Amino acid sequence: MTKSWWKEAVVYQIYPRSFMDSNGDGIGDLQGIIQKLDYIKDLGANIIWLCPVYKSPNDDNGYDISDYQDILTEFGTMSDFDELLYAAHEKGMRIIMDLVVNHTSDEHPWFVESRKSKDNPYRDYYFWKEGKDESPPNNWGSCFSGSAWKKDEQTGMYYLHLFSSKQPDLNWDNPTVRSSVYDMMTWWLDKGVDGFRMDVISFISKTPNLPDGPIKSGKPYGDFGPYSINGPHVHEYLREMNQKVLSHYDIMTVGETPDVTVDEAKKYAGSKTGELNMVFQFEHMRLDSGEHGKWSNNRFKLSDLKRVMSKWQTGLKDCAWNSLFWNNHDQPRVVSRFGNDSTPLLWEKSAKMLATCLHMMQGTPYIYQGEELGMTNVSFDRLEDYRDIETLNAYDELVHTQGVDPETMMQYIHHISRDNARTPMQWDDNCNAGFSSVTPWIGINPNYIRINAEQERGDPQSIYHYYQKLIQIRKQYDIIVYGSYQLIYEDDPQIYAYTRTLENQKLLVICNFSEAPAECVFPQEFRTDNKIELIANYEIGSIENDFRLKPYEAKVYLLNSANKFNVSQ
Ligand code: NOJ
Repeated sequence: MTKSWWKEAVVYQIYPRSFMDSNGDGIGDLQGIIQKLDYIKDLGANIIWLCPVYKSPNDDNGYDISDYQDILTEFGTMSDFDELLYAAHEKGMRIIMDLVVNHTSDEHPWFVESRKSKDNPYRDYYFWKEGKDESPPNNWGSCFSGSAWKKDEQTGMYYLHLFSSKQPDLNWDNPTVRSSVYDMMTWWLDKGVDGFRMDVISFISKTPNLPDGPIKSGKPYGDFGPYSINGPHVHEYLREMNQKVLSHYDIMTVGETPDVTVDEAKKYAGSKTGELNMVFQFEHMRLDSGEHGKWSNNRFKLSDLKRVMSKWQTGLKDCAWNSLFWNNHDQPRVVSRFGNDSTPLLWEKSAKMLATCLHMMQGTPYIYQGEELGMTNVSFDRLEDYRDIETLNAYDELVHTQGVDPETMMQYIHHISRDNARTPMQWDDNCNAGFSSVTPWIGINPNYIRINAEQERGDPQSIYHYYQKLIQIRKQYDIIVYGSYQLIYEDDPQIYAYTRTLENQKLLVICNFSEAPAECVFPQEFRTDNKIELIANYEIGSIENDFRLKPYEAKVYLLNSANKFNVSQ
């Protein structure tokens, strides 16, 4: 296996709107991030993934870009950005940008031109079609509810938008679109950014003629997936992007690829395919879906989680690279979703256990802001307190047209809404959680009094310090980065355990995913004195061969270590 800096790195994801407000307008900004760079450095993460900071009318909080080469005024200026990049580099950290090029904003000059007339030179930058008898050109539904088409009065034709109607899809089959995107990417890379996280990059190639998609029973729209995810030219375009742009720089790239299979991922991120370094797969993020897709309050099953994670760990072995994440700006908080936030003790233990389980796997770990504090889901009582376009549109569609009872829908929202991840970062227990001097753009989770960075940085037993130690040991032991993975105790209903192997070294990771104690028998090869306990979320005790795991207990053992290093927590 080839070694790479991006395989050994730990990424910290920042959602700038909710990270730190430096100028008292209730919205996070670039100067706020600069103020907190040492916080991230102390944690040990060395790459920052910055969610979009470009000019945008903010229909989808910056994922609708109206100028790729300018900064959203609320976030600051290009010189603030340059200062941030410089300061991060000075501190030995890198910054990767969010690249959102499946679509632009409808306020982007390309679209403003494109919609003007049927023969405008920019017309073919987007998908324009005639309607069918007053209906949209095909039956596709958008990711944010409703049809994926909007009729534009100027020419009477419809344009495609897989997300909101203010996010028209770019036509990647047009070579001028591709070269314009590559020029823009080159401009950022020449400025010194260290790579890209590529938004829904698997959606960029659509099947010609855009056929109707299958309709699930009871659903109003067809699924665009079969005709626009992993489409006919996606790999060709990414190889072209790699040749023309990416391969000229020492950078990191990660593609967001919903619905990707292991075989497809090997193409996107295969070590020899010349596309990207890694992809985000979302199979484990679908384990609690229900009859209304993600809108459910189902609890995941441990057996499914083990199956899916193991499939990816072994499926990409020696040929591609995993990205490891439990949450991001589109997902609920992991401690509420896969852990247990019902009491302070279970909250702390389960947050640490989940971190252990993920960070000991093969791949590059991503920490989403506040995850390192064990930030939890929020339950706003009123729909008016939610800001996310996906959540608000889904409420409208499910409650008003599909008959879901409003109270049930609120439960779904509390469980899965993207706003769970978007409440402001909890810095301290002062007014507005130290995030802002004024009321922020979205409510703060009331538990900031107990869960906040200042408190956790002062407590050596905190979740924050536990993450810090996980990152430290990853830097110290190659086996954590490069070792191969094997699931053990596959059928155990409470325990998720696996081993990692690198040459003659072996690592054992044992996690109790339940609030009940769990009996655990050591695998034969670990019944030896020649092992050390690397990290554990209860006190590190005498190492016996069989034991009883406490609620949400996690332990990691290393066999044959020449390099002894003990971390207790
Ligand atoms: C995926 C992003 O992560 C999400 O936040 C956004 O709404 C969609 N892509 C559309 O850009």
